[in-house]
Amino acid sequence: MPVRELIIETKIKVFPVDGMPDEYRKLAKAAQEATRNAYAPYSNFNVGSAVLLDNGEIISGNNQENAAYPSGLCAERVALFAANSQYPDSKVLAIAIAAVAKGEQVNLITPCGACRQVLFEVENRYNCPMKVILCGKERIYITESASSLLPLSFDGSDLPK
Ligand code: THU
Repeated sequence: MPVRELIIETKIKVFPVDGMPDEYRKLAKAAQEATRNAYAPYSNFNVGSAVLLDNGEIISGNNQENAAYPSGLCAERVALFAANSQYPDSKVLAIAIAAVAKGEQVNLITPCGACRQVLFEVENRYNCPMKVILCGKERIYITESASSLLPLSFDGSDLPK
């Protein structure tokens, strides 16, 4: 018998595409447009991502694959690292993600585990919740923070000082 049972809940708001909150329309469009420039000859899975900064800038990125598979990088990290490298002093307010497979937008794209870890680090770095906007073909899924996508996350606080 366990001593305790912990239940971790995540709130995800789901909107129909035409009912998406106005403040994220431009960001979602940027993520969708970024899928076009993905370099994904191995998976044929084009992912686009767009990051909204507190200075109003939108930085987008897409997946960049490589014949040596692990050398490639996901769209979310391409966009986030580009944003953080160009605007290190700007908080990241939100990230939108979209994906296209076989010419069609997929129903739900969610960040992989490694990207969630990076989103989480960025959220902590700027001490500012990052909205995560998952742009599906029919629905938009929005979480209030990156940490809500990574329960029991590792934030480095136990690393030796
Ligand atoms: N990929 C992303 O770019 N983001 C995700 O959220 C999931 C997966 C990429 C990695 C790889 O280039 C392709 O999609 C197939 O996994």
